[in-house]
Amino acid sequence: MYTHEDLARLQAQSLKMQSWIRRQTFSPENTKTLRRFSSWEVSELIFKVNQSTFRGRLAADPNLPSGEVEEDGRQRWFSLAEINELRRRMKINRKTLLPPRPANKRAIRVAIANFKGGAGKSTVALHFAHAAALDGYRVLAVDFDPQATLSHSMGLSDVVEDHTVWGIMARDLIHETDRMNASAAGAESGTALPQRQIPAAIRDLGLDALRMGDFIQPTAWPTIDIIPSCANAAFVEFASAQYRHLNPEWSFFAAVSRFLDQIPDDSYDMILFDCPPAIGYQSMNAVFAADMLYIPSGPGYWEYDSTTSFIGQLAEALEDLAHGADSFAHGQVTLPKVFQDIRFLMTRYEPGNELHRAMFDAFRKVFGDRVAESPIEMTRAVEQSGRFLSSVYEIDYREMTRGTWRRARATFDAAYAEFRGHMLAAWENLEDRS
Ligand SMILES: Nc1ncnc2c1ncn2[C@@H]1O[C@H](COP(=O)(O)OP(=O)(O)OP(=O)(O)O)[C@@H](O)[C@H]1O
Ligand SMILES: [Mg+2]
Repeated sequence: MYTHEDLARLQAQSLKMQSWIRRQTFSPENTKTLRRFSSWEVSELIFKVNQSTFRGRLAADPNLPSGEVEEDGRQRWFSLAEINELRRRMKINRKTLLPPRPANKRAIRVAIANFKGGAGKSTVALHFAHAAALDGYRVLAVDFDPQATLSHSMGLSDVVEDHTVWGIMARDLIHETDRMNASAAGAESGTALPQRQIPAAIRDLGLDALRMGDFIQPTAWPTIDIIPSCANAAFVEFASAQYRHLNPEWSFFAAVSRFLDQIPDDSYDMILFDCPPAIGYQSMNAVFAADMLYIPSGPGYWEYDSTTSFIGQLAEALEDLAHGADSFAHGQVTLPKVFQDIRFLMTRYEPGNELHRAMFDAFRKVFGDRVAESPIEMTRAVEQSGRFLSSVYEIDYREMTRGTWRRARATFDAAYAEFRGHMLAAWENLEDRS
């Protein structure tokens, strides 16, 4: 017979293994570092210009960053900071290398969501974040999942739960309850609204003293920051239920949205959410804060089933929120929730697999052009990198078969290019802030 104590013991063993794997993964200094990119990658894959044109331009201007020569010879290797400097200072055929950003808009927010486990959410979120950063965008990633796959992939392994989405939600409960109490006290007598009490146990956590910067952490990529998660944040779902009980008028689902609203518009271009495989307080916060939903799905029949029930459950949950609308309680929140765009993206797709092709056709029959034209193909590069917690962009192409690396990179590049088009269109539609 087994109890919670046996489970706890098994977990302790597993944690030891986990920390060993992480030490191996991030060795030697136990921190993740970003590699340099070769002049071939910078010109052809990143700037999309001819390699000899690029080299010629570098040679002509000795003030431009010139990268480092590695032992193996001809190629120069550039850091991301150098690549970004080149973007700002170089024009090719009179065209800027800076990526487009619509004027007077805040950063665009995209949730990679599906309640189905293993759909490829974290893989897509990681690769889109890296592709966007190589494209010149400044990215904030938000890990809503206590499995913390994205946080680990981005090199964060010692995260305290106060600094996660949970901390943001608990802090929001305190702020919102204070705001409601203050306006209830100021209301005409006779329409007296109840004063809500937050127990000392919650106030004493000191979350009020935390600043924006306590939640937002740098990563090995100079233009990617993250609000990380950690395993301890798993109790959020229980805690949030309790918090709603303390203040039933609290618009719990808008906590993260309110937090992101405080970030200056020009701090980031893109905010990407990795969601947990469940409907709950955290995933509702992610969905509610998003301008755009990107829904990855595997190519199997059961995954199609799950994706169908995901959109059904999401529709119901969002409808419930809309019915509970109460302008006093929600403050600035507008209901029903409006998305600028919703798209489906097939992942782990094998073009040679008849079933996959049939499922892709079925997806397109049902969802039409909401289905991304370029599915993400199954690739060994990701299977291998999964273990090492790296994206194909982070893997040095000299470390694997060049063909495998190129195919993997091509499939993520194509998916990102399509995403970028939809993202830019959605971005244009956001409210003008001038
Ligand atoms: N294109 C791909 N090629 C090969 N393997 C892939 C690909 N995409 C995802 N995988 C693998 O499938 C597994 C699940 O992917 P991932 O963790 O991204 O899914 P998820 O939706 O985030 O899962 P969860 O619901 O648990 O958060 C991982 O082992 C990952 O390495
Ligand atoms: Mg995941």
